[in-house]
Amino acid sequence: MNSAIPVITIDGPSASGKGTVAQLVATELGFHYLDSGALYRIVALATQQQNIAWSNAQAIAECSKSLAITFINDQVFLNNKEVTSDIRTEAMGKGASQVAVHEPLRKVLIEIQHAFCKAPGLVADGRDMGTVIFPDAPLKVFLTASTEVRATRRYQQLINKKQAANYDGILQDLLERDARDQNRASAPLIMANDAVLLETDNLTISQAVNYVLDKYQRFI
Ligand code: DC
Repeated sequence: MNSAIPVITIDGPSASGKGTVAQLVATELGFHYLDSGALYRIVALATQQQNIAWSNAQAIAECSKSLAITFINDQVFLNNKEVTSDIRTEAMGKGASQVAVHEPLRKVLIEIQHAFCKAPGLVADGRDMGTVIFPDAPLKVFLTASTEVRATRRYQQLINKKQAANYDGILQDLLERDARDQNRASAPLIMANDAVLLETDNLTISQAVNYVLDKYQRFI
């Protein structure tokens, strides 16, 4: 990895809006974008297709080594098949959180994530971007929102996509995912010591984006 290439990491819990903010920041700066959660979602989908249990750490890691994962603009491909919307379901979010607890899988995915670090720069979003994958990033943001606001945002997203949505179920799933992502032994969701906290309950998307861009301007 080339440490001269600037990296902005945006970590935070599920449905915090970090993906939207990270993508917009990347577009604004002309940087590459890494949606690391998509990698775990792809592994959840691929293992499900191969009848591998999400608790089977070794089989999941082996399976992930043979996957051809490609990102082309906003589209995601698994073994040359487009899976962009297949990996975005609540079921795959849950599955991703379950496969992500396994250290052997996390090791396999390190190299793939480092390969995104290319000139002129990278915005990387996930859970461990600032703590584990890009610990030397000059700007680390921990983007969060209250559980209720995150559940409302997720509910609204599903309604907008004309999918079935149940607020209480979404809230319960978020709490479970938070607990699993925060309490796992390997690369838990935690704010890096040198990260800035961005609490977005009362911010619009563009305010959050401008906050990150403003912080970044101070580094260059
Ligand atoms: O950001 P997301 O909702 O697409 O992530 C799905 C799951 O993947 C999340 O609940 C935990 C896991 N994940 C992870 O462990 N590490 C990352 N860097 C990104 C996601």
